[in-house]
Amino acid sequence: MSKSFKIAVIHGDGTGPEVMREGLKVLDVAAKKYGFSYAREDYDLGGERYLRTGEVLPDSVLEELRAQDAIYLSAIGHPDVKPGILEKGILLRLRFELDQYINLRPVKLYPGVKSPLANKGAEHIDFVVVRENTEGLYAGAGGNLKKGTPDEVAIQESINTRKGVDRCLRYAFNIAKERQRKQLTLVGKTNVLTYAFDLWERAFNEMGPKEFPAVKRNYHHVDACCMYMVMAPEMYDVIVTDNMFGDIITDVGAIIQGGLGISASGNLNPDVGGVSMFEPVGGSAPQFTGQNVINPLACINAGAMMLRHLGVADAANAIEGAVAKVCGELPGLNIGETGKGTDEIGDRVAALVAG
Ligand code: IPM
Ligand code: MN
Repeated sequence: MSKSFKIAVIHGDGTGPEVMREGLKVLDVAAKKYGFSYAREDYDLGGERYLRTGEVLPDSVLEELRAQDAIYLSAIGHPDVKPGILEKGILLRLRFELDQYINLRPVKLYPGVKSPLANKGAEHIDFVVVRENTEGLYAGAGGNLKKGTPDEVAIQESINTRKGVDRCLRYAFNIAKERQRKQLTLVGKTNVLTYAFDLWERAFNEMGPKEFPAVKRNYHHVDACCMYMVMAPEMYDVIVTDNMFGDIITDVGAIIQGGLGISASGNLNPDVGGVSMFEPVGGSAPQFTGQNVINPLACINAGAMMLRHLGVADAANAIEGAVAKVCGELPGLNIGETGKGTDEIGDRVAALVAG
C-alpha cells in the first residue's frame, strides 16, 4: 500500500525559499522512487508577512497545522523585524502549541568533510543531542518590575516538570538503546542549578536502571561538555539536556560537523497523532537572498529526518546517503565554500536519489 502524507511547507524568509526549493526537489524525486505521495500545503509565514499584514501566526493557521502529518520549515528571520517577534511568535509558539517536546539534533561528520577540529574525522564525530524543547528557560516564566527605571528588576525562571523531564529522558534512553554504543550522557549544571538539575539527575538515575538497564549512563556539566565536544567529541553517543543548554551545545555540534550548511533538526511530538516539524538549524541569511550561494544540504537533510519520522526509512536513508556523498565532493559546506550553486547541489542530490 502506498503511503500518503499531508505536509505543511513554510518557505520562510531571506534565503529560506531557495533552500526549501531544493528540499522539495529532492522530496519529489524520493516520492517517485520510493512510492509515497504527499499533499503539500504552502504557508506564508515569516518576516515578509508580518511586515505586510502585522500577522505572525494567525490562530486559523495554527489550527490548520494541527491537522498535518508534518511541517517542513525553512529559515525564518528578517532584518527589519525586531529580534524575538518571529522567533517567539512562530517557531517557539509552534513548538509549544504542538507540544513538540523533543528537539532532535544529530551531529555527524560525513566522510570527506573537513571539521574545524584538527585530527578529527568521521570516526570521531557521530552523536545525537536530545534537547528538551518546551520547558526550561524557554517557558517564558518571569517578568519585569519598574522597567526602564534604575530600580528595574528582570526575572527569567527555568521551569522543569517531572513529566517534562521524564518524557524527554525516556525518548533519549530509547534512542541510546538502539545505538551501537548504548551510552547516554546527561548534560546539566548540578553544581550550581541545584534545583533544576537535581530533578534531572534523580529522574535520570531512577529511570535508567529500571527501564533501560542496557544503557550506560554518564553525567557532564555543560561547561565541561563544551570543552569535550571540541577536544574529544568521540566521548559522546547520545546527549540529553534541557532547552537552553541544548540550544547552546548544538551550535557547537553544528560547527564541528562541518557547519550550518549541513545541520538539521527535528522538533518532535512523538505521541500518537503528534505533529512534528523539521528545519535546518541555520538562519535565513538575508544578505545572500537570490544569490544562489546557500548550501541547501541542511534543509534537504531536514527533509530526510521528516521522512524517517513519517516511516519511510528507505527514502530517508537514500537521501542521507546522497547528502553524505555530495558533502564529500564539495570543498566546504558553508557560504562561499561550496563552489557550487544552491540549485546545482540540489540537482546533484536529486540525481543520486533517483539512482
Ligand atoms: C534554535 C534557534 C531558536 C532557539 C531561536 C531562533 C528561537 O536558535 O532552533 O536553536 O533558541 O531554539
Ligand atoms: Mn539555537
